[in-house]
Amino acid sequence: METERERLREFFAAKAVGWEKRFPDDDPAYAAAVAELRLRPGRSALDAGCGTGRALPRLRDAVGPAGAVIGIDLTPEMLHEATALGRHRAGALIEADSGRLPLRDACLDAVFAAGLVHHLPDAAAGLREFARVTRPGGRLALFHPIGRAALAARRGHALREDDVRAEPTLVPLLAGAGWELTVYDDSEDRYLAVATRALS
Ligand SMILES: C[S@@+](CC[C@H](N)C(=O)[O-])C[C@H]1O[C@@H](n2cnc3c(N)ncnc32)[C@H](O)[C@@H]1O
Repeated sequence: METERERLREFFAAKAVGWEKRFPDDDPAYAAAVAELRLRPGRSALDAGCGTGRALPRLRDAVGPAGAVIGIDLTPEMLHEATALGRHRAGALIEADSGRLPLRDACLDAVFAAGLVHHLPDAAAGLREFARVTRPGGRLALFHPIGRAALAARRGHALREDDVRAEPTLVPLLAGAGWELTVYDDSEDRYLAVATRALS
């Protein structure tokens, strides 16, 4: 597991500088995905695997100055780039593994995770950890600014149905972790799965 974490860190460390230049037009898609969390002023949100912090300004817009925004990432180079881009002004940046969040139980209203869940070595455990830190009725958004089929085609891969993001795989994983899937959109332009934290 440690080796896998190291491999991921190295992979993303090399991509940190200039990460957002590769996807300059994605901000409206991030804003629309954040809107699905239905955050209100004063609420709290985590961006898990925040990378360079692209979603942090949108999360801050949603919760306002009285709210709390946290971005966590495994890769220090990504957080360094986030700071260079001024994203620390939108949310607190913390180096941490999303599988072991340094957060209290039920302290958050929402978790946003873009491009993360398929990188987790144990997705079920990762979804349970998101559930642990989210209050009952809170929301989770798993997002990618391109649909699975379009992404697979771009990378020259076949679409895999055992992919954790595929609906038949994701629904039972979410349910087992204390989430109920409420939105599933795997279209050309985006992948978005939104789930609500079960009430008990
Ligand atoms: C595809 S990038 C997405 C970055 C950002 N969310 C975005 O949309 O631009 C995936 C990010 O997840 C981070 N990551 C991967 N596994 C992680 C883990 N277990 N805990 C925290 N961050 C992780 C990587 O370091 C990387 O920054």
